[in-house]
Amino acid sequence: MKKYVIAIDGPAASGKSTTAKLLAKKLKYVYIDTGAMYRACALETILKNISLKDEKSLQIMLDSIRIDILYSDKGNILLLNGDDVTKRIREADITKLSSEIAVIGIVRTKMVDLQREIGKNGGVIMDGRDIGTVVFPQADYKFFIVADVEVRAYRRWIEAKEKGEILILSDVEKELNWRDQNDSNREISPLKKADDALEIDTTNLSVTEQVELIGKAIERGKNAEIL
Ligand code: DC
Repeated sequence: MKKYVIAIDGPAASGKSTTAKLLAKKLKYVYIDTGAMYRACALETILKNISLKDEKSLQIMLDSIRIDILYSDKGNILLLNGDDVTKRIREADITKLSSEIAVIGIVRTKMVDLQREIGKNGGVIMDGRDIGTVVFPQADYKFFIVADVEVRAYRRWIEAKEKGEILILSDVEKELNWRDQNDSNREISPLKKADDALEIDTTNLSVTEQVELIGKAIERGKNAEIL
């Protein structure tokens, strides 16, 4: 059976990764969270004390960076130059810096190369901002997942609370709005729906409903119209 490339793009906290993760499990596909790769790059600049303005040092860093994604039942593990940084890259400073570093052309070139290499044989679900537009414009299936910012902020807030972290809801919403703007208005590969992607609004959908909807669209075939 042909192993597809499935691209899932959309703004932060729209439900992309939850959906992609569950769908990958169902289809026995590899799940790649490309945001985590930008986060790893951001962390590396902190560890190496590199300014985002210093392209020369950034290039040297990119030439030697090693990002490995390991699979476990509890979710992907991200190794940065051999070290497990899965938790660290979710912290607030990295969240902001990852959006800032993602505007830089040489960073994107490197990440896109790595992502194409990982996905070249298919059987992969990749989520991010530019998967359907730039990384795999020929992806077999493309989805663009959106949700109202209030709902996205609430989801993030609950997620943090479940981990024992108490955030201020209005701050979470502010941060999401800032990132939406930064990710959508950059010059290179901005967050944008591919013309041939199916848009799904998850504002009023449960996780199960989201996975079902995408799963059904895949079963129905390439030109399936949903919503
Ligand atoms: O998906 P995420 O929130 O973990 O992504 C972190 C940042 O990385 C996001 O603000 C923008 C950037 N990113 C990107 O530019 N392109 C991607 N394919 C994935 C993420």
